[in-house]
Amino acid sequence: MKNILITGGTGFIGSHICLVLLNKGYEITIVDSLINSSPVVIERLKEFCKSGEKNVNRINFEKGDLRNQDFLSSLFETYYKKGLKFDAVLHLAGLKSVKESTQEPLKYWDYNLIGTINLLKIMGEYRCTNLVFSSSATIYGSKKDNTLIDEYSLINPINAYGYTKATIERILEDLSKTKNQKWRIASLRYFNPVGAHYSGRIGENPLDNPNNILPIITKVAAGLIDELKIFGNDWDTPDGTGIRDYIHVMDLAEGHLISLEKILNNEFKFIKLNLGTAKGTSVLELIKTFEKVNKVKVPYRYCLRRDGDVAYSVADNSLAKSILNWIPKRDLEEMCRDSWNWYKNNPKGF
Ligand code: UFG
Repeated sequence: MKNILITGGTGFIGSHICLVLLNKGYEITIVDSLINSSPVVIERLKEFCKSGEKNVNRINFEKGDLRNQDFLSSLFETYYKKGLKFDAVLHLAGLKSVKESTQEPLKYWDYNLIGTINLLKIMGEYRCTNLVFSSSATIYGSKKDNTLIDEYSLINPINAYGYTKATIERILEDLSKTKNQKWRIASLRYFNPVGAHYSGRIGENPLDNPNNILPIITKVAAGLIDELKIFGNDWDTPDGTGIRDYIHVMDLAEGHLISLEKILNNEFKFIKLNLGTAKGTSVLELIKTFEKVNKVKVPYRYCLRRDGDVAYSVADNSLAKSILNWIPKRDLEEMCRDSWNWYKNNPKGF
C-alpha cells in the first residue's frame, strides 16, 4: 500500500484527512512540530484503526519542523531505506492566524515559505513529485458585489498569511512547468472549515485563544465566555452580519483524498480548486442554527468591525465538483451538531 506523508497531520484539518486516508487503506506518515497541536491525535487515530481491526502500524509519526533541512533529509532517507518511500505529500503544516501574521509577518514567511521550499527541494531529490497543498480562500481580494468567488477571481491577499499562501501557489505553478521533473500538484483553497468527525474523538483544538467563530461559539454555549462579539452588523448583507462559506471538515478531508487519487493516477499537472459549499451563512444564521440543533443559548453583542474582514466570502465550487466529482454532503446543522459533540466529549481539548 502507498505511504502518504502528511505535514501538519495532527492539526484540525490534517487529523481528519489522516482518518479518511487510513479508512481507505493507506499507510500514513505524519510530520508535525506539535507547536499548535497535540500528540494525543495519534492515539485517537490508532483507536480508529483498532476498532476497524485495521493495522495500527500503518500510522507513523515524526516530530519535526520543516524549516530544519537536516530533519527533512534524514526523514526522507530513513523511510526510503526502510522501503517506505513517500508516494505523495499532503502539505498542511504552517502558521494560520491572520491576526498574528499582521503582527509578526517575518515569522509567517519563515515558517510557511521556508518550510515549504525545504519540503519541495527534498521531494524533488527523492522524485516524490505528487503534492496536495493546503491553500486558502484568504488569497482572494475582496469582491465589492457579493458574488461567488471562482478560481479565476483576482488574487489579492490583504495580510502576510494570505501572501505566503499565494506565493507558494506561484512557486508550485512554476514547478509544475519544469520539464525534468514530473510534478503533479493540487492546490486546495479552503473556505471556512468547521465541524468535527461525528465520533467526537477528533476535532478542532486551538491551543491558544481561538479567533475563528465556531470554537468561540462553543465556548460561549458552554458558559466559558460570556457572549460572542459579532464583528459588525452594518455590512452590506441582508442581516448586516458577515457571510461565509462554512464547510464540514470531513467534506474537506474527502476532497483531499479524491485530489490525491487523481494525482496518483496522473490526471492533471497543476490544478487550483476552491473547496467550499457555495452556500453563504451569516453570523446570525450560524448562531441560530447552532442554538436550534444543540438546544443551547449563545448570547451575543454587536461590536465594531474587525480589521481585515470582508462582508461576503462564498465559493463557486463548480470546478471542484466537476474535476473531482466531489460534492460536499454535510449541511450547516451537521456542522453545528458535530462541533458541539466534539466539545462536549472533550471540554479540555485533547
Ligand atoms: N466573527 C465574529 N466574531 C468572532 C469571530 C468571527 O463576528 O468572534 C465573524 C467574522 O467577522 C466573520 C465570520 O465570523 O464574518 C467568520 O470569521 P472567522 O474568523 O471564523 O473566519 P474568517 O472568514 O475571518 O477567516 C477564515 C480563516 C482564515 C482563512 C479564511 C478564508 O480563519 O484562516 O477563513 O476565507 F484564510
